[in-house]
Amino acid sequence: MAGKRKTRSSSTSAIGDAVTCNSNSGDTQTKSTKQTRSSSSSSQKKSRRKTDLDIASSGAEKKQASEAVRVTVDGVDGNGGGDVEVSNSKFLGDPVPDEEAKRRWPIRYQEKEKKKSNGSKSNSDNEEIIRARHHYTQAYVDGGAIYNLYDDAHVQGEEGGEHYICKIIEMFESINGKLHFRAQWYYRANDTVIKHLGHLIEPKRVFFSEVQDDNPLDCLVEKLNIARLQLTVDCDAKKEKIPPCDYYCDTLYLLPYTTFVKLPSENKETGSETSSTISSDIEVNGKSEVNSKPASTLNSVENKQPEMKLLDLYSGCGAMSTGLCQGGILSGSNIVTRWAVDINEDACKSLKLNHPETEVRNETAENFLLLLKEWEKLCCYFSLITNMVPHEEFTKLFNEEVEEDDSAEIEENTGEEIFEVFKVLAVCYGVPKTKKKIKNKLGLYFKVSWKGYGPNADSWEPIEGLSNCKERIRDFVIRGFESNILPLPGLVDVVCGGPPCQGISGFNRFRNDQNPLEDEKNQQLVVFMDIVRYLRPKYALMENVVDLVKFSAGYLGRYALGRLVQMHYQSRMGIMAAGAYGLPQFRLRVFIWAAAPSEKLPQFPFPTHHVVVRGVIPSEFEGNTVAYNEGHTVKLQKILVLEDAISDLPPIENSETRDDMQYVNPPQTEFQRFIRLSESEMLGISAEKKSSKSLLHDHRSYKMNTDDYQRACLIPIRKGACFRDLRGVRVRADNKVEWDPNVERVYLPSGKPLVPDYAMSFVNGTSSKPFARLWWDETVPTVVTRPEPHNQAILHPEQDRVLSIRENARLQGFPDFYKLCGSVKERYIQVGNAVAVPVARALGYSLGLAFQGVAGDGPLYTLPDKFPMIKEHVSSELFEEVA
Ligand SMILES: C[S@@+](CC[C@H](N)C(=O)[O-])C[C@H]1O[C@@H](n2cnc3c(N)ncnc32)[C@H](O)[C@@H]1O
Repeated sequence: MAGKRKTRSSSTSAIGDAVTCNSNSGDTQTKSTKQTRSSSSSSQKKSRRKTDLDIASSGAEKKQASEAVRVTVDGVDGNGGGDVEVSNSKFLGDPVPDEEAKRRWPIRYQEKEKKKSNGSKSNSDNEEIIRARHHYTQAYVDGGAIYNLYDDAHVQGEEGGEHYICKIIEMFESINGKLHFRAQWYYRANDTVIKHLGHLIEPKRVFFSEVQDDNPLDCLVEKLNIARLQLTVDCDAKKEKIPPCDYYCDTLYLLPYTTFVKLPSENKETGSETSSTISSDIEVNGKSEVNSKPASTLNSVENKQPEMKLLDLYSGCGAMSTGLCQGGILSGSNIVTRWAVDINEDACKSLKLNHPETEVRNETAENFLLLLKEWEKLCCYFSLITNMVPHEEFTKLFNEEVEEDDSAEIEENTGEEIFEVFKVLAVCYGVPKTKKKIKNKLGLYFKVSWKGYGPNADSWEPIEGLSNCKERIRDFVIRGFESNILPLPGLVDVVCGGPPCQGISGFNRFRNDQNPLEDEKNQQLVVFMDIVRYLRPKYALMENVVDLVKFSAGYLGRYALGRLVQMHYQSRMGIMAAGAYGLPQFRLRVFIWAAAPSEKLPQFPFPTHHVVVRGVIPSEFEGNTVAYNEGHTVKLQKILVLEDAISDLPPIENSETRDDMQYVNPPQTEFQRFIRLSESEMLGISAEKKSSKSLLHDHRSYKMNTDDYQRACLIPIRKGACFRDLRGVRVRADNKVEWDPNVERVYLPSGKPLVPDYAMSFVNGTSSKPFARLWWDETVPTVVTRPEPHNQAILHPEQDRVLSIRENARLQGFPDFYKLCGSVKERYIQVGNAVAVPVARALGYSLGLAFQGVAGDGPLYTLPDKFPMIKEHVSSELFEEVA
């Protein structure tokens, strides 16, 4: 077995070194068991207390009873003494022949007790091996039932609690005469990570696990009928398929990365003694998995891979989908962002500028969902799809009697000017943004152009006002359907997004920690899941801040997983540090994968760079950190620092106003060489070189006001410099700041103090962040949206300004070709909000492998050597001409 996952109670450990997770799901299962089942595991071993000594057994059973019948005495090994309780439990029939038993369960017959090393799933690394005298295949248990090997059963629970549920995978008599069974456990939803949100899952649905342990035979309570079903996206169809049963099971719950995966196809040996009882023969899209390589040797365009259509929700400027598509293409899958939705207009403009192929929708996600539902009905009404009954509202609305060319007649009769719709241009749900205020209610609106009028007269009209424009609307819907302007259920391959959950922010004093979902500010998590439910994509990827698993005992993280499992998605959750994928920024984020039952569940990519974890992850979720085993032998690359990312950028002033400028210097590091490539060079699609005339975009900084600028100018140029170096500030031995009584307070020409009070009192005077310079050898904690120097280290190491938009973009891994739109402030927001591109790229590679069916079964995989430079189109001459 590989090294152990180190449990980290302190807030600092090395990602590269610290965390165990072997990609072999078997091993990791064993190791992580304690983390999640700790509350119940000890009680699983408790014997059921017997009081009824007179158990009636039939004559036949008595005859069958083997030599193995023993009086079981609690606390002592059949030798009497203690709290004596006698049981009539016994094994029935002949024991399994010795030779066969030794072959099937060798560890039980070894001479000396050893720690487990055969890879079988144990509830504890330290579980002692109970040596066996004989194995059996049938048992009679006090209380009246006969159990066969591989039966499912209830096991005595804690007093007042529910019984546990298991599959009996071994029955044996120990060398000292005790009767045992080995249990492989099923989990109820609230035993899994979903916990108190277990009500999201049907009560009869249980999840098979790889967790096993030995128990006294007497703990068995009753036999169960657990139906094994195929996981299917169609929840209604599934309901019909559930036969009469005590429970049903369609999903495995694996503790590493809190993974829910479909059950492998039925295997007679399931639950047998092999360590591969449940994960050995997982099929991928009907094909058996092969250890093949991704189709990455050729690019996807040349390869003519089918397009994977991606919808980016809460897209911001599109960093997450950009990375996913790039990673997908590097893996050989052709992932394309077809649609994106964001409420922020400038972010939408940035996304469109960089992804002309994307239908970018500047609206709320909730209105987008309502629009999708209306759109489907319209497509159905115009017979473009046939999977639903045409909706009455349109049948009524588009009264067939009204002729479209009646306008002239009406005009003649009434004398009123009648406008005629020339063309329908766009559709939206909700009150559209228009120049003139629309008082109308929420609903479906079409943007129309008017016959005889120019584009300035285009207007948004509610559908009710267009009842006699059926033909125009039909033309629009047909065009829209053909060009996929909106996704329809079943046609989206991937939904990704980071629904904002502002109600969980650590800065929010009013957060609702009893029921975070009641907080309007967390509603987007529900909307995200509702969109997934409606569109039924093959894959979903959700990103969020670590508060998702911290706040309110991880309520929202559990909710997210619960909703996905409820919708019959396979799912797993990982916590990834951006710096571990080649950035000089730490940035810890939660990612949740979901895959439809027909698909392979994507894995998490092992880190490529050595990074030290900063920040607190709740102990229950420490195991979700995407990291290598403690004691691993993989050589990780050194963590990057600020110098790696930005040392080539030309100096600018606080007052810089140019959005585009010359690079001036050639790249100085590997990071800079890569980030300055054109998109096709990055992806190895063509060897076409980036033009030497390419400009550097967005290298301008938020202009500090005069006071702050004057303060910044006085901060020395050296590592660690900050407001503490200004005149009048003294640092005490306990590292708190105080006013120097020997120095008169200094004032700026504006009359404001050189050292503001807020800097002195920040974090009770212990912080050195106000007006701090970053230094070349540092890795920044997290790029944020507000480039203010008041409470964070954001001053350039050597220039008297905050880091520029481009410098922040570099720290987030945006390629230099990615140009942003909007005011300086808006561009900082887009960059600060983004998913770090290298993390998304690595995840896109995972997605591509899963889509091609070549991902492994374990939760983690290793990225190719030198990722993402795997196409080797990058030549050093490329930049020689840039000077
Ligand atoms: C964390 S950012 C997403 C960043 C993005 N994934 C990326 O990688 O660039 C969240 C985004 O959600 C958008 N947003 C907030 N509320 C929204 C809503 N109700 N509907 C749509 N977008 C919303 C914000 O404008 C912001 O751009």
